Amino acid sequence: MSDAVEEIVNLGDRSYSVVVGHGVLPHAQNMIPSSARRVAIVTQDGIPTKYIPSFAGVDVSTHIIGAGESHKTLSTIERLCREFSQAGLTRGDVVVAVGGGMVTDVAGFAAASYHRGIPVVHVATSLLAMIDAAVGGKTGVNIAEGKNLVGAYWQPHGVVCEMDALDTLPEREMRCGLGEMAKYHFIVREDLSSLSMVDRIARCVRIKADIVSADEREGGIRALLNYGHTLAHALEIATDFSIAHGEAVAVGLLYAAHLANRMGRIDEARVDEHYEVVHGLYGLRHALPNGITPDQLIIDMGRDKKAIDSITFVLDSATGLEVVTGISDTKIREALTDLMTRLG
Ligand SMILES: NC(=O)c1ccc[n+]([C@@H]2O[C@H](COP(=O)([O-])OP(=O)(O)OC[C@H]3O[C@@H](n4cnc5c(N)ncnc54)[C@H](O)[C@@H]3O)[C@@H](O)[C@H]2O)c1
Repeated sequence: MSDAVEEIVNLGDRSYSVVVGHGVLPHAQNMIPSSARRVAIVTQDGIPTKYIPSFAGVDVSTHIIGAGESHKTLSTIERLCREFSQAGLTRGDVVVAVGGGMVTDVAGFAAASYHRGIPVVHVATSLLAMIDAAVGGKTGVNIAEGKNLVGAYWQPHGVVCEMDALDTLPEREMRCGLGEMAKYHFIVREDLSSLSMVDRIARCVRIKADIVSADEREGGIRALLNYGHTLAHALEIATDFSIAHGEAVAVGLLYAAHLANRMGRIDEARVDEHYEVVHGLYGLRHALPNGITPDQLIIDMGRDKKAIDSITFVLDSATGLEVVTGISDTKIREALTDLMTRLG
């Protein structure tokens, strides 16, 4: 095995390791429970099979799910559970997800549901899954009424972040991960740019692990992980998901900075820092899609599933990020104008 960085998600007797590095697939063998006699691999056709770990001393079955959000459904969960049953999986056995965030969300939910919960190990092959989706135990699927509306908290037994997999990750998917990575700079108010990619991924995992350990079920600080996401979700809805999630988050981070500035929470220099990280460090220079109006975005921001009685934002301040509600339409509009003016 090559050099690896290991981070622990501390959750008492459900604590687990996240191993980050090149050539780290063999760590998956140590993450499966000793009771396992069968391993059910859940993956997608587009993911090279070289990222599927080998397991000794167990029977292995492979289960392919479709790519794209349209396959992130309850019918996929039913099919997987039926296949697990046909493969003879029992409560002592294990599911191993090999893929991006869609695979870890779906396989994680299938594992949480099958026999009322069997162990799952995630092998993250996309940047977004490594620094976000595979860590923290949120699993779920979409229904017609909304994304990720049905799911469960189900912590994995371990996570392997195989960085060799980034070599084949399509560029657009890489940008999705970079959008989320930019977010972590502002959560901890640190410049992560001096770190190597392995250390930067490990640092993002550590930040997420600390947040999850403190607030597993999003009663408080876990909501800070939604920084930049209020406008991002609205942009995804307004463009019928033609804008990639990470591209939308990149724009959403800049908007959140303008809004915080309009509310007197941060100064212009801090707004500029947002542009330096998003545009400069991560090269995420996305304009607002053509034809999108402030009115449309305000309506779509109100549809966010986290909005309770007003649009909810995570906003920066001198002391860090906070969840903020009850912002006037005027400020929301002014900040949209600031964003549109600056993006040109
Ligand atoms: N559970 C959470 O906490 C959480 C957090 C953020 C996002 N998510 C979810 O994650 C999903 C997005 O994840 P994603 O950005 O990884 O997208 P994805 O899983 O849909 O993967 C994108 C595409 O890249 C392919 N791919 C993945 N790894 C590859 C590799 N190494 N080489 C070649 N192709 C590869 C996939 O097959 C897919 O076609 C969404 O469904 C989102 O809701 C979950």
